[in-house]
Amino acid sequence: MTFFFTATGNSLYAARHFDEELVSIPQEMRKQNRHYKAEKIGIVCPLFEFDIPDLVKDFIRGSEFETDYFYIVVTFGCHSGAVAKRVEAFLDSIGKKADYINTVIMFDNAIIVFDMEQQASIDAEKKVDEHLAAIKADIDGRKQYIQPAEQFEVDFSNAFFDMRKKEGPMYAFPLYKVTEACIGCGTCTRVCPTGCVRIEEKRAVHDYTNCAHCMACIQACPTKAIQFATVKEPNPNARYRNPNVSLKDIIAANWQK
Ligand SMILES: Cc1cc2nc3c(=O)[nH]c(=O)nc-3n(C[C@H](O)[C@H](O)[C@H](O)COP(=O)(O)O)c2cc1C
Repeated sequence: MTFFFTATGNSLYAARHFDEELVSIPQEMRKQNRHYKAEKIGIVCPLFEFDIPDLVKDFIRGSEFETDYFYIVVTFGCHSGAVAKRVEAFLDSIGKKADYINTVIMFDNAIIVFDMEQQASIDAEKKVDEHLAAIKADIDGRKQYIQPAEQFEVDFSNAFFDMRKKEGPMYAFPLYKVTEACIGCGTCTRVCPTGCVRIEEKRAVHDYTNCAHCMACIQACPTKAIQFATVKEPNPNARYRNPNVSLKDIIAANWQK
């Protein structure tokens, strides 16, 4: 049993390599009692600012996992920021423990800072399938392993956290604006894992109360009508979804109907 959270498909694509029984975290979050029992239990999710998303932390915090082997794999785009050690400390703080925590570099979907077209041009260099196969072998072999923190990743993430302390939160809300290009199709409402986009008078409207700033809405909009409200986008014409994952898959995982 492997739980996943995905905005643009990378983590779902990764999770498919590790397990056949895949369960969406945003869908499970609707359940009051979350007790899971399986021989092997995994979590696969993206890295957000050198940490796992709050949504995933809330899921782990509020769930009981009865298993012989508990693993976590974090997908990231360029700097993992020593997240495995951070996740180990988080688990420790809530009285949980993982047998295996690893990271895998994939397409960087951080659209607020990167041009998705430029990221596509370096994607092949990341050798994603090779890394996923190695992680699958580890998990199948029930390897005990917490990825060690590399010093440059520790320094890099600490510099980021220091900057955030000085400059405040990374995201200012309202994060998005919706342009005239919006056709009211509702794709954004269906890919949002926290149900914070609605259609009003044929136009997308964001309610940021529970926004996970996962960027699923901006990435999936078929007319690119969702744009950042204050930040200048590196490339407003480029959007990303993992080529092996369909829009239907992301909707099935995230839609809070
Ligand atoms: C809000 C946000 C923050 C991110 N922060 C980082 C980061 O700190 N380091 C990094 O290497 N990648 C970062 N990324 C890139 C994603 O972790 C990466 O592309 C991931 O594979 C996306 O997975 P998904 O397609 O399952 O959502 C970030 C992406 C988003 C949207």
